[in-house]
Amino acid sequence: MYTLLYISKYRKTLTDSEIDTMVQTSGAYNASKDITGCLITYKGKCVQILEGPETEIKKLYSRVKSDPRHYEVHILSENPIDERAFPQFAMSYLPIKIERKDSQALERLRTNVSILSDFTNPVHKTAVLFWKKIREFTDTFS
Ligand SMILES: Cc1cc2nc3c(=O)[nH]c(=O)nc-3n(C[C@H](O)[C@H](O)[C@H](O)COP(=O)(O)O)c2cc1C
Repeated sequence: MYTLLYISKYRKTLTDSEIDTMVQTSGAYNASKDITGCLITYKGKCVQILEGPETEIKKLYSRVKSDPRHYEVHILSENPIDERAFPQFAMSYLPIKIERKDSQALERLRTNVSILSDFTNPVHKTAVLFWKKIREFTDTFS
């Protein structure tokens, strides 16, 4: 098995409902290819981690990379793995929408990120890097 983590920036013209539709279609596709992972969006940025059969992950990434809905797509980490960090999620999606001044919402978000990172197993270095990246997002608020 294989994992790949990338970051990108999505087009401002992409609406919430377009992202929701894309996530639903992606979930069905990923499930059919035994791919699991998580997509986080925050202030026009995406971070996605994918896990599954190596050929399927590489095939999917080359499709995703050429998707015009986002740009500046860069791989942060990729490596073979023995175990999945997201075995139960074909495509979990967490949009982060928080105003800097809303300290309660920010606190809730930090708690949720910390619960999620405990709940999902950091069984490989790419998953550890994924959560580090998300914490960087939530830390930019303070
Ligand atoms: C940020 C982002 C993440 C995506 N993640 C996935 C994914 O995990 N699985 C998937 O099938 N498509 C994903 N897509 C959609 C693909 O890029 C592509 O539109 C889809 O696979 C259909 O490909 P096709 O138009 O070549 O048939 C993602 C797109 C974006 C912009």
